[in-house]
Amino acid sequence: MKKRTSRNLKYKTKELMDFFSVNRQRWEEFYPSERRAFQIIALKDRSLGDILDVGCACGGLGAALEEIFTFKSYTGIDINDNVIEWARKHRKLSVPAKFIADDVLNYNLEKKYHLVVSLSCADWNVETKRIIKYCWARVKPGGHFVISLRLTTGKSICDIGKSFQYINFSGKKQHPEIANYVVFNFKDALGVFRALSPRPELIGAYGYYGRPSVSAVTAYKELVFAVFYIKKQAKGFRKTKGIRCEFDLPLAIFK
Ligand SMILES: C[S@@+](CC[C@H](N)C(=O)[O-])C[C@H]1O[C@@H](n2cnc3c(N)ncnc32)[C@H](O)[C@@H]1O
Repeated sequence: MKKRTSRNLKYKTKELMDFFSVNRQRWEEFYPSERRAFQIIALKDRSLGDILDVGCACGGLGAALEEIFTFKSYTGIDINDNVIEWARKHRKLSVPAKFIADDVLNYNLEKKYHLVVSLSCADWNVETKRIIKYCWARVKPGGHFVISLRLTTGKSICDIGKSFQYINFSGKKQHPEIANYVVFNFKDALGVFRALSPRPELIGAYGYYGRPSVSAVTAYKELVFAVFYIKKQAKGFRKTKGIRCEFDLPLAIFK
């Protein structure tokens, strides 16, 4: 048996497949913050290259991106076996697609990607910072990492005992399985991204205030739901230039 090297929770529920096999597979179903990130990083010819989708569920992002952009390949990885089984059978894309059932931290991906995505994945399990580092390591020079995070001006919470979400997409606060519901103080999130190695060339984000999910139990009544797009230094980038930032976020978050 393969040795588990991460503390991440293995989500076993079929609830994920039931929800993601019918939701979040059309471009219009993605949040404006998510859509904006892809629109910003797509090249002039609207191409996104090779994509790695971490926590891909049923691969709906691949189908949604195909409506708007072109890309060379799509690789999805998910810790939940049911969603991957569904994706292997039913998710048809016009580019080569691969679906991997594993904890991303336990899977040794050799390849590098133009675009690595974590939409509600890294902050939905317990090894959030390790998942972020893993994703960054798989980005090609000059490529991008897109990640959604919940932000606050208060204290960061990365403790599933204090902030969690019942895996119940009908919105009820009941289910045998819970997911971590990580909230980042904005400055802490920036600290994590600034410490990435190699240092990013650009950190951008777009987000807005919203209420936590009704199935979440957390200390905050209001959060900023933000999607970051972080560019890895292209070959030949002058290190003295420093990290460029472009933030379209509520002013209050900079407190
Ligand atoms: C809230 S869902 C989001 C699905 C999809 N990214 C979207 O935005 O529509 C989070 C997904 O991440 C997966 N996940 C959580 N931790 C993971 C890990 N360590 N490795 C791989 N997948 C993981 C879950 O099983 C789940 O399918």
